[in-house]
Parts: sequence; structure tokens; C-alpha cells
Amino acid sequence: MVDFDFTDLVGDEAEFFAEYFNKKPMFRKSSLSGDPRELLSVKKLDELVHLEVIRPPYIKVNHNGTGVPEKGYTRSVVVQGVNVTDSVVPEKIYELFRAGATVTWSSLNQVVPEMREFSRVIAQKVACRTDTVAFMTPAGRKGYPPHHDPVELFIVQLEGTKAWKLWNPPAVRHGDNASYTLEELGEPAIEVTLEPGDVLYLPYNTPHAAAAEGQVSLHLSVMMRPRMWKDLIRLSVEEAFKDQEFNEYPHIGEHRGAAAGESFKDKLRALVARLDSLDADTELDRLADLGRHMEGSSHGTTFQTIAAADGFAQDVPLRRTGAAVEFGASENGRTQMRVNGHKIAVPEPVASTLAALGTGAWATAAEIFPGVSAERSTKTAQGLARLGVLELAGQPG
Ligand SMILES: [Fe+2]
Repeated sequence: MVDFDFTDLVGDEAEFFAEYFNKKPMFRKSSLSGDPRELLSVKKLDELVHLEVIRPPYIKVNHNGTGVPEKGYTRSVVVQGVNVTDSVVPEKIYELFRAGATVTWSSLNQVVPEMREFSRVIAQKVACRTDTVAFMTPAGRKGYPPHHDPVELFIVQLEGTKAWKLWNPPAVRHGDNASYTLEELGEPAIEVTLEPGDVLYLPYNTPHAAAAEGQVSLHLSVMMRPRMWKDLIRLSVEEAFKDQEFNEYPHIGEHRGAAAGESFKDKLRALVARLDSLDADTELDRLADLGRHMEGSSHGTTFQTIAAADGFAQDVPLRRTGAAVEFGASENGRTQMRVNGHKIAVPEPVASTLAALGTGAWATAAEIFPGVSAERSTKTAQGLARLGVLELAGQPG
């Protein structure tokens, strides 16, 4: 898969977060350590444009600053008896590109596994939703006029060159879209022609303008959606609302009486007290974790885990998966368990082994069921792996 990591974008991580993150734009020459075409290339986009399943809004075409209507490059086809009204016609896309249009592939992290992994690497660090968008522009075409976007951006030049002008973000930022004239912006803070492997960082609302030069330009925009304090605090409040005391139903119409007002103030005080009692680091870790696992960055190995279970040897080391297991009552030598929505009953010794398998601990398939043959224990271990309770101790989580 991709060999690039966060330092390929920012260099020294601590320096990036101290000096640039959310403050000012940054340019890094030859920032990527490997061949940027391993991430995405013009060749790969020739392949993608022929994959019928990639259609609007994953692919869009822009000409002279406005979007080309989808009808201009799609047609109706029948797939497995179902009408698909917007299948892309590659020849039409090529025709528009020859005429000077920019082709954009949005949310490529939902389509191309390498892009998914790249998004995930970045989401791990910035703890917010991350999407990758590819822009391909023919030689010598103007891009968009100066504007700012509501998202943080890493721009990675993959092929060709593109001239960029960046200005420092305005003093007051609203997280919105806006356009500018060159006159009102004045001298840019950064003016540079990006070459393959170069990287730009734009805090949200950084005004920017770009234009392709003498050759086809392909660049990747990694878009990160900043989570403001209001977004984060809303999540903490939502968590506090899970308490039953906020489920009471007051009458607040004209017959409410004085007690309603007092109850209202009581609930507000209760909410503040609840929020005030949170341990800041624990709660921030929880919020960061939510940000790392948003749509567009998830991944899993469940098929591999289930398939691997079929071939377990008796001495294979196994560990508990991340799935929550509830242990219930024991009766007639069997213990009730609830895992991944399934209710199962396992022999008591098996439940004891599972309960004792803490973080970092492992047991061989033959040891999962103490007191029976290694063969029978291995069969039990296979069953538990198929249910998502156990996995190979060596596999990445
Ligand atoms: Fe933009």
C-alpha cells in the first residue's frame, strides 16, 4: 500500500503544529520522500475514468470557472437490470479536457484504497474528517479566481507543475467560502510553482489562486474539516444528555407555573456540573478518537480474520479482538456471553480463559479450552474467531 506518512507532508511534526497548524500557510519543497505517482498518477486516472462505477459526484468537470452539467459527459446504462442514469462516458471527458476543462475526482478516499490509507494516516494526526480530491488541469489553463475554502488543505503536486499564490488568512475567520480580487489581497505571502513532490499547507480560510503552466497538472487536495470548539463541546454535551435526568418531560406552555422555571435552572446547573466534572485529557482523547474514525477513514480486517480462522494450527497465538464481550451467568457448566449482538453459551473453562485474556495477552488455540484435547480446543477457538471474539495475535489491529 502507500509508503507515505504524515512527516512526508509536514516534516517535523512538533514544529508543524507549533508554527503553522491553524496559523499560516506553509510550503515544503520536495516534501514527499518517494515517487508521488505511487499515490496517484495520470495513468491511474486514465484507468479510473473507464471504471463505470465512478460517476458524479465522484467525478466532475469544470470549464471556464463553471461546472459542466453532468448530462454533458454521462449516459444511461443498464447494470444487472437496474437503470444507472449517470454512467461516465470516457470519450466525452477526454473531449472536454482537450477543450481546456479541469477534471476533478472527489472523495477518492471512498474509491481508491491507496487514497483511503493516505486519508487515514492524516486523520490519525489531525483527528478530524479527511477527504482527498484530485484535480487534473490541461496545460496553460487558469484555475479558479482567488478565494478561500472552509477546510484545511494539504496540496500535493503529483505530476506537471502549477503556479500558486497564497495569502495569510484573515484576522477573523468564519469557516465559510469567499472570493477576492487580486487588488484587495495585495502581495501574496507565498508565490511558488509546485513541482512533483512539493507540498503546501493552507489553514482554513487561506486565500489562494492557482493556474497550470506549460503542461498537464495533477495535484491532490487533502481536505480536513476543522472541528471548532462549538463542534467539540456539542459532542461533550450530547454525551452528558445520555443521563436519564435529561429525559424528563416538562410542561412549558401557559400552565407551566413557577416550578418549571426552577427545574429549568436546576437542569442547566446539573449540565454544567456534569461538564465541569469531566477530566479534560480523557474527554479530549475521546473526542480525538471520534475524529479519527469518521466517515472516509474507517478500515477493517474482518474478512481476513474470519478466513484465517479456518486454518488455525493448534499452536497459533490468539488474542481477544476489540469487540466488547459481556459475560453473563453460568449454569450447568456453561457461561452465557454476549458479543457483536450474538448471545452464546460457552463451556465455563473457555469463558474463564477469555475473561483472563487482557490487553497484550495471548493464548494458543490449544489452550483456549483447558481440560480437553488440543484438537477440540482449536475447534472452539475457530468458532470464537468466526464470531469476532478472537483473532491472530500477530495481525495488525
Ligand atoms: Fe480552493
